[in-house]
Amino acid sequence: MRILVLGSGGREHALAWKIKQSPMCTKLFIAPGNGGTQLEGENVDLDILDFKNVQEFIEKENITLLVVGPEIPLVAGITDAMAGIPDLVVIGPNKNGAMLEGSKKFAKEFMIRQGIPTAGYLEVEKSNIDEAYKHIDDSTTPIVLKADGLAAGKGVLILEDKNEAKIQLKELLDGRFGEASETVIIEEFLSGLEFSVFALTDGKEYVLLPNAKDYKRIGEGDTGLNTGGMGAISPAPFVDEKLMEKVIRKVVDPTIAGFEKENIHYQGFVFFGLIEVGGEPYVIEYNCRLGDPETEVILPRINSDLLELFIAIKTNTLSNYDLQISKDYCATVVLASGGYPEKYKKNLEISNFETIDGSIIFHAGTKKEGSLKSSGGRVMMVSSLDSNLREALAKTYHTANQISFENKYFRKDIGYEFL
Ligand code: AMP
Ligand code: GLY
Repeated sequence: MRILVLGSGGREHALAWKIKQSPMCTKLFIAPGNGGTQLEGENVDLDILDFKNVQEFIEKENITLLVVGPEIPLVAGITDAMAGIPDLVVIGPNKNGAMLEGSKKFAKEFMIRQGIPTAGYLEVEKSNIDEAYKHIDDSTTPIVLKADGLAAGKGVLILEDKNEAKIQLKELLDGRFGEASETVIIEEFLSGLEFSVFALTDGKEYVLLPNAKDYKRIGEGDTGLNTGGMGAISPAPFVDEKLMEKVIRKVVDPTIAGFEKENIHYQGFVFFGLIEVGGEPYVIEYNCRLGDPETEVILPRINSDLLELFIAIKTNTLSNYDLQISKDYCATVVLASGGYPEKYKKNLEISNFETIDGSIIFHAGTKKEGSLKSSGGRVMMVSSLDSNLREALAKTYHTANQISFENKYFRKDIGYEFL
């Protein structure tokens, strides 16, 4: 099987690493990839938003499996654009399905129609800003504001002060994120433990993947700015069978059934961002792809062949697929360039990453130019497995300490609250 993975982060390195382990993989391309993906396959310099170029490459190289890592090409309709290529299986929903991530308003309305538990909300545009101000006056703080569209992870604001919330709301509507914030959702604040659940679906059936908990803030103790993610553990230790049963019954089943009812062609990963409030799961957000760095803890726990799972989509046999999941914990820590998510240095020389036992190193912002250099804020993820969470974390931190580059920063408290 000839395969193309799109993306350039740790998630895509983890996907490439896992795909390459399959005996069915005869050729693996990653576009554009990073310094780590080229250890697993061949990097291709393609603009993943230039669908014509992507299509030409797929046809020229006889690719039969396309795995789309990030959300931007999905929301822009890459799956629809590739629909005419004979025998190509695309992992990633069409534009309509990707709206679950591409529009908070769409996601909210979908959840209301399907009876899926989520926070109460008000949809705001410039035309009903006065209603919104009154809604803020009548709400308790904190106030949650969400730009409707994709805003590079910066579209959610949680504000303690009502006046500040009004100022921020006005700025969003005035175009802070362009079209993406012409509509804003004001959401009821939910307080509880967050976790992530992942499914792979063909639009009718689905297979659940391991769950995870990620750490989004830059600082220890969940403080400071939001980031793409600074670490993750799988499974989320507090998610017991009882909670998972509710997640399946109240969230996952009605979501997948909703796709069929609403004629949404959804073939790919669904990422359920959840919060537990009083023993009940609520959906905070949907994503139309795997998470990063969650992928770096869930794929190492999957013992099954990932290509076999993808083929089950093509052959409509997902419902019979018996995914083998390791009972081990997996813990990942992100090594970032000091200053991230604000100003940080690139082109830093990276050393001591080659001969490390007991951990898996996934590259994110790296490039190979003779030596290995950094090319982004999140540079590498270190993942380790162990039957004991404490040991998995100890292995990861041991490795994280050995890898070296100037101003390396990582959170020292991933998983700490569960030890
Ligand atoms: P997102 O950018 O959609 O991943 O949201 C960022 C973070 O904001 C989430 O991971 C939550 O921690 C927080 N968040 C979003 N919506 C709510 C809510 N309704 N109540 C409390 N926290 C929220
Ligand atoms: N780690 C969160 C995300 O991928 O959206």
